[in-house]
Amino acid sequence: MRALHVTDLTGPDALQVVDVPEPVGGPDDVVVDVKACGVAWPDLLLTRGEYQIKPPVPFAPGAEVAGTVRSAPAGSGLSAGDPVVAVCGVGGWQETVALPAASVLALPAGFDLAVAAGLPFNTLTVHFALKRRGQVKEGDTVLVHGASGGIGIAAVQLAKAYGARVLAVVSTEAKVEVAKAAGADEVLLVDGFKDRVKELTGGRGVDIVVDPVGGDRFTDSLRSLAPEGRLLVIGFTGGEIPQVKVNRLLLNNVSVVGVGWGAFLMTAPDYMHEQWAELRALIESGAFVPPAVVEHPFDEAAQALRSMDDRTLAGKAVLVV
Ligand SMILES: NC(=O)c1ccc[n+]([C@@H]2O[C@H](COP(=O)([O-])OP(=O)(O)OC[C@H]3O[C@@H](n4cnc5c(N)ncnc54)[C@H](OP(=O)(O)O)[C@@H]3O)[C@@H](O)[C@H]2O)c1
Repeated sequence: MRALHVTDLTGPDALQVVDVPEPVGGPDDVVVDVKACGVAWPDLLLTRGEYQIKPPVPFAPGAEVAGTVRSAPAGSGLSAGDPVVAVCGVGGWQETVALPAASVLALPAGFDLAVAAGLPFNTLTVHFALKRRGQVKEGDTVLVHGASGGIGIAAVQLAKAYGARVLAVVSTEAKVEVAKAAGADEVLLVDGFKDRVKELTGGRGVDIVVDPVGGDRFTDSLRSLAPEGRLLVIGFTGGEIPQVKVNRLLLNNVSVVGVGWGAFLMTAPDYMHEQWAELRALIESGAFVPPAVVEHPFDEAAQALRSMDDRTLAGKAVLVV
């Protein structure tokens, strides 16, 4: 089978398509014929050896895949031919994967597999962020940074599905349409976003900030919170890990809340399936429409990663096998 391997830790250009034996899988594993692979920020970091997981080279990155079941253990609820998505951490960028049943989620029949491949990693992270960590409720105002990126689009869409008003922040005019298409009520440019938030909320601020970016906008995000607001720390695509002056937290009774979905799953192995059941219900009711994805052929993974790195990607990238 074909696999995409990181061959040295010099970045996306060192990815190579290689021919490797198919995984056999243990008796408890589901074997999936992969049709599409999500492209996630950790994949970019993995190509440079900058992610918290550091597999020995060569290895396949790939946090999420969609495909059809080739074989599944009895009692898994899955059968050959079923469409599925799976969360794999690393190792998803290959034509066949073998994974524990706990990592594999059933899709509705006929679901577009390229769209599906872009769903689990970001959408389930944002579900955990908004619902469990952020306690979002109907009528809240939610500010989303990086709103044309993978986490950002999922945050705009899920916050809308939960009845929130959404203010989306993007860096360029070219990204405004993507955030609007996701359902944002207002789209703000990064420059001057704090003042615009005050204007749009009558001076009150927002209840929740979804922050996958960090960097130098963090203090203005804290200043944009309403009393008892929560800033959800999801990632640091801006590069710099912000420092918090904690006096700002008591001045306005606001909270900075960490969101580590993968770490949480290690303590609650059944949680992902509970989340998926809720997400499927939202999809089936029409409250959440899975977003279109930016498709690349499997062997153009480097290009997909470069578009994340140079900030030109607008949307969620997927590799089609
Ligand atoms: N905590 C968790 O459990 C968890 C789970 C999944 C992902 N994450 C993290 O969430 C973050 C976002 O992931 P993603 O998949 O949404 O990435 P993405 O699709 O590439 O989007 C990231 C956004 O960050 C913004 N950005 C600001 N400064 C940037 C820079 N210097 N370079 C690149 N982008 C920059 C860009 O929007 P603008 O250009 O509009 O500013 C971009 O749309 C990553 O750090 C990822 O590791 C965390």
